[in-house]
Amino acid sequence: MTVALPASLLLVGAGKMGGAMLDGWLKIGLPPARITVIDPYPSPAMQALADKGLTLNPALADLAPQAVLVLAVKPQMLDEAAPQLDRLIGADSVILSILAGKTITDIKERLPAARAIVRAMPNLPASIGRGVTAAVGSSGLTLAQRDLAQALLSGVGSVEWLDDESLIDAVTAISGSGPAYVFHLAECLAEAGRTLGLPADVAVRLARATVSGAGELLHQSDLAAGTLRENVTSKGGTTAAALEVLMAADGLQPLILRTAQAAKRRAAELSG
Ligand SMILES: NC(=O)c1ccc[n+]([C@@H]2O[C@H](COP(=O)([O-])OP(=O)(O)OC[C@H]3O[C@@H](n4cnc5c(N)ncnc54)[C@H](OP(=O)(O)O)[C@@H]3O)[C@@H](O)[C@H]2O)c1
Repeated sequence: MTVALPASLLLVGAGKMGGAMLDGWLKIGLPPARITVIDPYPSPAMQALADKGLTLNPALADLAPQAVLVLAVKPQMLDEAAPQLDRLIGADSVILSILAGKTITDIKERLPAARAIVRAMPNLPASIGRGVTAAVGSSGLTLAQRDLAQALLSGVGSVEWLDDESLIDAVTAISGSGPAYVFHLAECLAEAGRTLGLPADVAVRLARATVSGAGELLHQSDLAAGTLRENVTSKGGTTAAALEVLMAADGLQPLILRTAQAAKRRAAELSG
């Protein structure tokens, strides 16, 4: 199904994540001429896009209501950014917020004109178009508006819709913070390699290539992670010996659970 891209889109905050999403929208064919960006210190890449028709830092009083407003400033900047945005919200506008910890209610309070809101939580691989975003829609969101949000979010990776906004903290603990857990796994593997006697630079390269290669294999394969693991584990072999330690009752699973619980607790504290 082809979803029409928005006639006008205002991106508020073109930093790491806003910039990554903008790249994604251009890749899926949203013309720069339909995009307006507000950012106090735009990057050179953003300036270059202005030469291709994107509107950069216009006087907001001159703008007509926008089909989509994307909120991508730091969460603590919402109060400063919001007052000037309310008049840019039309009856059918969709507000797409990626602000960590800001609830749909928080956004409605700051933008009283907003009827249709999508709260989304992308993750870092969005910067290479391989993110995963969890999204939840407000009560006023129509099916067509949800499809529009889906089309925009899928510019930076896959999208999972949730029915229950309270699950966003769990999403933060798994996919939001998850890339850091995987980077740490690469660090731990490299450190183990050094301890086993490998030269440090070799250990780092082996660990990096192993984590990224296994991740890519998981990405390309239709098999479940557990099946891929079983496929490389011969009975009585080296991997089996290693997994006996890793999968022990006090092994990686309970540690990852405690890890994710700590992230979820912190997400709840930050949004409270
Ligand atoms: N990075 C991630 O992995 C990730 C994941 C999930 C969600 N998020 C969410 O994404 C949002 C942005 O995060 P980020 O990592 O992209 O931060 P960032 O790189 O600091 O981007 C925020 C951008 O907004 C600009 N800005 C500040 N005040 C503004 C205003 N009043 N009007 C318009 N633009 C303004 C900033 O400009 P200056 O730098 O000049 O202040 C900066 O370019 C956050 O709410 C975060 O919770 C990020």
